[in-house]
Amino acid sequence: MPYNTSTSFALAASLFSITLTTYLYKSHRRASRLTSTQISNAKDIPSYASSDSHNVPVAIFLGGTAGIGRGMAEAYAKHTNGNAHIILIGRNATNAKAIIASFPKPTSPGAKHEFVSCDATLMTECQRTIDDLLQRIPKINYLVLSPMFVKSFHREETVEGKEPKLVLIYYARFKFMRELIPLLQTAKDAGEDAKSYIVGGPGLAKTIDYDDLGFLKKGYSFWKLRRQFPAYMDVILQEFAAQNPSLTFIHAYPGPVRSALADNLEWPLFQILFKIVFELSFPFSYSESGEYMLHAMFTTARHPGTWSVDMYGEILPKGKVVVASEQERRMLWDHSLQETAISE
Ligand SMILES: NC(=O)c1ccc[n+]([C@@H]2O[C@H](COP(=O)([O-])OP(=O)(O)OC[C@H]3O[C@@H](n4cnc5c(N)ncnc54)[C@H](OP(=O)(O)O)[C@@H]3O)[C@@H](O)[C@H]2O)c1
Repeated sequence: MPYNTSTSFALAASLFSITLTTYLYKSHRRASRLTSTQISNAKDIPSYASSDSHNVPVAIFLGGTAGIGRGMAEAYAKHTNGNAHIILIGRNATNAKAIIASFPKPTSPGAKHEFVSCDATLMTECQRTIDDLLQRIPKINYLVLSPMFVKSFHREETVEGKEPKLVLIYYARFKFMRELIPLLQTAKDAGEDAKSYIVGGPGLAKTIDYDDLGFLKKGYSFWKLRRQFPAYMDVILQEFAAQNPSLTFIHAYPGPVRSALADNLEWPLFQILFKIVFELSFPFSYSESGEYMLHAMFTTARHPGTWSVDMYGEILPKGKVVVASEQERRMLWDHSLQETAISE
């Protein structure tokens, strides 16, 4: 049959209709999955208010002023009807105020919503914030850590001499988790949920160069960060769980989410390109992702230990995540302690 204009038109039309049908089918499936996840989150979220109306759950979101952390905080506020002590930590007070204003107004006496300003690229700032929380918060039920800021891909340096992307993606998270353990333990000892939650990329990296932890000897590259740091989080959670057998540690991969991650790239062209990719090919909104991420916190991670979950908050298949030896875990722990200590 001759290959003429009408044949090409017919082919293009069928291709278009197949693409559209697949898109609509996927959107429909995702919409119904989201609805069932919202229903299960509403059902599975623990309520402590019935025993003592002052005893509201405490949830902290470092990185809760934008993106996935924001989606999780908003979904959490919705499912608790605002009856929780919710703390958003970040730098953008304007965003935080707008987010908090959108939360349902609390009716339980102990419930409140607040913003705590902290530039987590600085260990001194992390320390100040942690000390403040230790001093005035009685317990923590949920500690969610998702801070990130990408201005460039090359090495930068904070006034403390550290690479800020490495600090945000790992060291600040380690410091908050380690030093706030006593407040999580208090919640656990009272028979409540006590869960630390990292938004990152479980299983996305398979190797760690233990001879060059933190890239201090052989030098930094964004490629190395991408190839190794997700495994830092996998391994350190295994050590946290070994040291704190009654607590729960979750590492979640949110999948492609339309967030604020590309908003700060220093090259405008890159910013535009990334924005286009985000808008056109990243299926999840931050609100949708927030519900899936909460699903891991309330439903999937049912008992103490480490949990590695996918973009829907479901357990990753066995073998995906690197399992470190005790010696490797200790090496990473000691390195992390050293890098997050405040130098005199
Ligand atoms: N989006 C995706 O498709 C995707 C995919 C896989 C993995 N992830 C991972 O998910 C995590 C969250 O990403 P996201 O997409 O939600 O990013 P995002 O939309 O850019 O949000 C980042 C959050 O980090 C906070 N932050 C940035 N710099 C900070 C600083 N110096 N101190 C304290 N807080 C700071 C921001 O708040 P302020 O501006 O108020 O400081 C904001 O709340 C990251 O680790 C990312 O690698 C994301």
